[in-house]
Amino acid sequence: MERLLIDLGEDSYYIDIDEDLLEIMDKAIDSGDKIVLITDKNVDNLYGKAIEKFLKDKKPYKITIPPGEKSKTMATVEYILSQMLDCGLTRNSKVIALGGGVVGDIAGFSASIYMRGIDFVQVPTTLLAQVDSSVGGKTGINMPAGKNTVGSFYQPKAVLIDTKVLKTLPKRELISGIGEVIKYGIIYDDMFLNDIKNEFEAILKLDYKVMKKVIRRCCEIKAAIVSQDEKEKGIRKILNFGHTIGHGLEAITNYKKYTHGEAVIIGMYYEAKLAKSLGYIKETYFKEITDIIHKTEVSLDITMLSLEDLTHAMIKDKKNRGEKISFILPIDKGKVKEVLLFPNEVMW
Ligand code: NAD
Ligand code: GLY
Repeated sequence: MERLLIDLGEDSYYIDIDEDLLEIMDKAIDSGDKIVLITDKNVDNLYGKAIEKFLKDKKPYKITIPPGEKSKTMATVEYILSQMLDCGLTRNSKVIALGGGVVGDIAGFSASIYMRGIDFVQVPTTLLAQVDSSVGGKTGINMPAGKNTVGSFYQPKAVLIDTKVLKTLPKRELISGIGEVIKYGIIYDDMFLNDIKNEFEAILKLDYKVMKKVIRRCCEIKAAIVSQDEKEKGIRKILNFGHTIGHGLEAITNYKKYTHGEAVIIGMYYEAKLAKSLGYIKETYFKEITDIIHKTEVSLDITMLSLEDLTHAMIKDKKNRGEKISFILPIDKGKVKEVLLFPNEVMW
């Protein structure tokens, strides 16, 4: 087992990287008068029975939501909260979020408002959730006005990662997670970016040793950033590289065409291109970035979409200031900065 600390004073917690889901579940339920497991249908179908059998008498209540981004709504939060009330959960109860980023974000948000906040533990089961969404305490839902526009900063009590559950992940979801992995290399650690490039095939094959190293490095970087800036007043903004365009793409396609990770991959490409057009990076570094982005084989063609709609969606991004759109752009290897642009200054 490997252990990392998210250092947030009295809200500090550990990320444990392990390889046995059942042991992890045992650890997750070690406190709380009542436990509720929130998961989605796919994850439940894959792991629900084994968990129930293993936990036997300590069996937690279970709330299962439909899989996918379409579940990240206020209606699902209402459903979860009413189920939690029906189960008689108290302020001393605990929520376990077992699933990808959708489950983690919505279970965390529900835990943050149930009786003004009860404990929750993240057990992320997608690569994207293991390297990013389960760590750092951002929780929330989508509203018609935009992605993650309602939510809270609410830290889990622990993040418990089983690298082996990734073996059931569809390839498309693995690639989505790789998008966020690449992001860490570009924003923070150029040597890591090189490692990802060299070990890309091993990552695709889920080589256990390589995956453990990759997940650990991503969590280390996220821990370092979040420990300095929990509420995104400064350095945490760098985690949004690829996300201004990425969130716009998700919004104008009604969260149906792209997974979050795919949208971020396309967003990173066009934001790196923008950085090159604005003179922040040279052609050679842009090529290094695009070489690794191409390895994901995600189509970067967005000509079928309206740039006007995309720009309009980006104008509504919650990170903007005044009339300007906030972008995180690469300025050197392993370095990015926030650049504010008027909509007509954005180059494609
Ligand atoms: P997801 O939760 O929709 O999971 C993707 C799919 O994989 C789902 O169909 C799910 O059922 C399935 N799945 C999960 N684990 C599996 C497993 N082990 N085997 C087989 N199938 C499995 O998507 P995601 O990519 O994990 O997360 C995306 C969400 O995370 C987005 O809503 C995004 O906004 C959010 N996010 C949040 C943060 C944060 O800081 N809170 C950061 C990044 C992304
Ligand atoms: N995924 C961005 C953040 O956690 O800040």
